[in-house]
Amino acid sequence: SPAPSSGAPLKGPNGAGRAAIAARTLRNDRWWLPPLATALGLGAWVAYATVRAFMQKDYFVAQYEYLTPFYSPCVSKGCIPESSHFGQFLPDQWWLPYAALTLPFLLLFRMTCYYYRKAYYRAFWLSPPACAVAEPHQKYTGETRFPLLGQNLHRYFFYAAALISVINTYDAVKAFQTADHEFGFGLGNIILIVNVIALWAYTASCHSCRSLIGGRLNHFSKHPIRYKLWGWVSKLNGRHMGLAWLTLGTLALTDFYIMAVSAGWIDDLRFIN
Ligand code: FES
Repeated sequence: SPAPSSGAPLKGPNGAGRAAIAARTLRNDRWWLPPLATALGLGAWVAYATVRAFMQKDYFVAQYEYLTPFYSPCVSKGCIPESSHFGQFLPDQWWLPYAALTLPFLLLFRMTCYYYRKAYYRAFWLSPPACAVAEPHQKYTGETRFPLLGQNLHRYFFYAAALISVINTYDAVKAFQTADHEFGFGLGNIILIVNVIALWAYTASCHSCRSLIGGRLNHFSKHPIRYKLWGWVSKLNGRHMGLAWLTLGTLALTDFYIMAVSAGWIDDLRFIN
């Protein structure tokens, strides 16, 4: 197509690169519904997680060794000693979450995730709010400059998240042993295990994981194992958005259940011991 002759910028809602229509969009479906639902869903989750991270109570059921993922690993001097499997070295301050060692990495992992980027660019920054709907911003620099350039660090946060998933798995397995050192099994164990499986599925479906496993190879035929793994990860990758939401659900549910048992609102449904 011919280059725009006016000196107007190419991009942006009034840019020369845009079709000459006065309307903000010609879409007449309810295009605003997905970004609105995303904003409400993410907003509610972040509000819940923030309150929980700073509560500093009802995070551990000593009798059944249930530790919520929001407080894992519990490394503050304020943690219940039995809930700290990796030492206590952070100062006990009201403004410092007990899992302050890992929570920032989980936040950065999700914030730089390819799916969540799409979600919050659309739902909160309206950049753009939906396909074929012009955004309100006049300028568009994409992810080419600071701070959005930092989105490139996602691959490193992936390693941190994988390590944290190992810790969550350890917590889930440890919860099969009661405080009396017997094998125990209750509804809380099922919830913890389901959460960990979902977390692994989300982590393995990460785009960075996919390129780590199958990227930079010239010949798949010479790397049959990586090719096989790449095939599996690619299948999961196609469900990345669903897994992103599923894990928000399992994380909140796991935390809420453990809070409810720990606070004495409900009893854990026990099958063995
Ligand atoms: Fe979503 Fe990596 S792309 S977690």
